[in-house]
Amino acid sequence: MSQRKIRALVFDAYGTLFDLGSLTQMCVSLWPERGQALSELWRRKQLEYSWLRTMMGRYADFEQITGEALFYAVQFYKVQCDASAQAKLVSAYRELKPFAEASTALENLKPLPLGVLSNGSPAMLESMIDPAGLPLSFVLSADLAKTYKVAPSVYQLALEKVRALERAKAHELKDAEIAPAEIGFVTANGWDALGAKNFGFRVFWVNRAGLPREASELGPDFEIANLGEIAAHLS
Ligand code: LAC
Repeated sequence: MSQRKIRALVFDAYGTLFDLGSLTQMCVSLWPERGQALSELWRRKQLEYSWLRTMMGRYADFEQITGEALFYAVQFYKVQCDASAQAKLVSAYRELKPFAEASTALENLKPLPLGVLSNGSPAMLESMIDPAGLPLSFVLSADLAKTYKVAPSVYQLALEKVRALERAKAHELKDAEIAPAEIGFVTANGWDALGAKNFGFRVFWVNRAGLPREASELGPDFEIANLGEIAAHLS
């Protein structure tokens, strides 16, 4: 089946454009024995709490649930980590750095509109993304929808933003509105790839760690090892 041309790309933030590795390093330096496992449980609980709050309809912003997830992980591993140390770790989410290939990869994808759609709170995303200097046309937080991925209403934010950018560019609406299948969604998170596919985007799964695909009929359209491989799939 001929695939429709991709007219915009939307990127997940954490683990996709921005590397969580520095958080793991902070945990390992604090707790050499348990730091790696604690950081993994922290991330897992952060995501679990986002999914629970989505299903319960009890939204709290991503910085709050990131703190709650860390609190759980610290209790689980019974390590010493007082409130100020926990706050320092949570605030490190605001200083994550892009993956090494991100800037070049995104520059090579212009002039396609490039944007971010993330669970991160607006404050978290602004602090992290502004200094990175990536060629982005927009940054969207799930906070706008007051729920989290994989709720379709979160992905809908990106579709509406891309459509608004296209309308602003086109002097008259000669082309039909962009369809979800004309938007590429890029994520390193397998669960996020399922959600984006369920919404109707074309999905690039950045499988940096060589993981197996999620056991689902909602497989990604493209599986890539890093962001530099996106361009080859657009021609
Ligand atoms: C994001 C995280 C959850 O939405 O990957 O950026």
